[in-house]
Amino acid sequence: MLRHVPGRVVAIVLLTLMGGLLTACGGADEFPQTTLESAGPNAARINDVYALIWWAAVVVFILVQGLLVYAIFKYRGEPKTAHGRPIPVHGNNKLEILWTVIPAIILAIIAVPTLQVISELSEIPTGDDVLQIEVTGHQFFWNYYYPDLGVTATNEMRIPVGTRVDLRLQSADVIHSFWVPQLAGKVDAIPGQQNHMWLEANEPGTYHGQCAEFCGLAHYNMLLTVVAEPQQDFDAWVAMMLEPPEDGGDPERGLQLVVQMCGACHTIDGTTAQGVAAPNLTDYWQYSDIAGVVDNNPDNLRAWLEDPQSLKPGTGMPNMNLTDAQIDDIVAFLLDNEEDN
Ligand code: CUA
Repeated sequence: MLRHVPGRVVAIVLLTLMGGLLTACGGADEFPQTTLESAGPNAARINDVYALIWWAAVVVFILVQGLLVYAIFKYRGEPKTAHGRPIPVHGNNKLEILWTVIPAIILAIIAVPTLQVISELSEIPTGDDVLQIEVTGHQFFWNYYYPDLGVTATNEMRIPVGTRVDLRLQSADVIHSFWVPQLAGKVDAIPGQQNHMWLEANEPGTYHGQCAEFCGLAHYNMLLTVVAEPQQDFDAWVAMMLEPPEDGGDPERGLQLVVQMCGACHTIDGTTAQGVAAPNLTDYWQYSDIAGVVDNNPDNLRAWLEDPQSLKPGTGMPNMNLTDAQIDDIVAFLLDNEEDN
């Protein structure tokens, strides 16, 4: 008789092992947007609740599957009615109440830490040691303004390690959702409304995230990174961001071109280019990527200026039909300062 059973048991064991493998393999190196390796207190609190629910589910799974396997062995081949079918338990009040009350108790228990964490995470941190950043979602990039420092950055957010950061989220166009899985949960950026979230990084590192609300054709490419670094490195970055751009030679022509042709959408600090619809291009050479899609280097920047849509379909950046000479000047200007560091 037993030789008919192993197939099902083997299937259950295999599925359990596969589930275990899926959760065990692959950390943040392999999956940079993992929620399972928290790198700060906000994400850690969410993970605590997740772990609690996961282990509760493991206990329930083992209990239910254990009873199922037990029943299969114990009651197999024991027909109780004249037609050879087991007697139905329909209308058994004791059972009905039992399997209604037990899940209700489990849900009530889970609700306690869940509500606690929700209220903890929705607190708005205050104090002198809190770094404020105004985060604005655009189709299709993130803009960061540090009101206390006067610094603007795009896509790559820099924060000091061990500092609580208060993000004030808003949107310039449609609903986006700010999400850096290793640091915090998702909070929507909504036009005409300011939402808050806080996050903090325990260790220096680069944490990847992306827009988590469908917002248009290039939603999939609305990426971001949070770079957490020691306070002195962060301070050095701020000082560098506040330096006026150098000029001279071809970069000078490039600067003039950018101010004239791009200033409606882009800002260059210290010039009349003060557009806010697109990323701030001040100190563009220090950006690690172009529009979140390719590495920032002269060749890619040239390709981007020649045909933005081919690199990022749906981007708000139009093809400006620049000549090769204009592109050379603009690249020289945007990537100027590269030798300084
Ligand atoms: Cu912004 Cu999706």
